[in-house]
Amino acid sequence: MEITPQADAKLGVTVKGFDALTAPDEHVEAIKQAVYTHKIVVLKNQKLAPEDFVTMGRRFGEPEVYYQPMYHHPEVKEIFVSSNVPQDGERVGVPQTGKFWHSDYSFMPRPFSLTFIYPQMVPKKNRGTYFIDMGRAYADLPERLKEAVAGTKARHSARRYFKIRPTDVFRPISEVLAEIEAESPDVFHPTVVTHPVTGEEILYVSEALAHELLDEDGTPLDTGVLQELFEATGQRDMTFTHENIHLQTFEEGDLLIWDNRSLIHRALHTSTPEPAVSFRVTVMDTYSW
Ligand SMILES: [Fe+2]
Repeated sequence: MEITPQADAKLGVTVKGFDALTAPDEHVEAIKQAVYTHKIVVLKNQKLAPEDFVTMGRRFGEPEVYYQPMYHHPEVKEIFVSSNVPQDGERVGVPQTGKFWHSDYSFMPRPFSLTFIYPQMVPKKNRGTYFIDMGRAYADLPERLKEAVAGTKARHSARRYFKIRPTDVFRPISEVLAEIEAESPDVFHPTVVTHPVTGEEILYVSEALAHELLDEDGTPLDTGVLQELFEATGQRDMTFTHENIHLQTFEEGDLLIWDNRSLIHRALHTSTPEPAVSFRVTVMDTYSW
């Protein structure tokens, strides 16, 4: 097994010679540590059946089944499917997922530790995912903003990006909204979290899912502070040229693993989408947040 830093990138390593099913435990551990330290790991030349993908995920933590069944792989529920390609005339998974800055499941009490993405049908152009390293972004914040968010919490909610399901057609929106509130009530995470492995401080807010900052007494902060954080970290840059933004591309056979505590991400989809299918497995590791 060979681990090499990605050329011309501030984060990420490439791994060659890793067999997800037969690799010794120490190789799995080495990759896990590389994910925490380098934040993105690209495993090359992977060839895994859906159930093997989950078996692989289980070597890194406890796979989590997504709370909404419409995203599930028809045979393997631990796999979340992003797809715009029907199978035998039937929709599989959900198209155009994640086109907004977010950390996976931050609107839940316990967000995922690691995200695994295994593209199945790779678009010819416009492939990739944008990332922002929120550890680095926090370090680069002006002291004034660091002081403003010290000791605060952020309210996270899925509400703005909840995808209307086929079964929601003709339902009153109030009923759908009430269901969202019941299934995924707002959660509060510290605005700055400390990474349990690296000890790095991470600004844990994303434009899509963080709605409000509250001080220690639960009093909302001026809304301008959160907007300034989005601006300063690059989440408002629609040209995607901000120095914090990293575009991670991939080719057939690549399997990406990233640290979902440290990174926020945003899918790259265009208005004229090409056929694209991607499988995702998310796991909880043994560390707390
Ligand atoms: Fe995501």
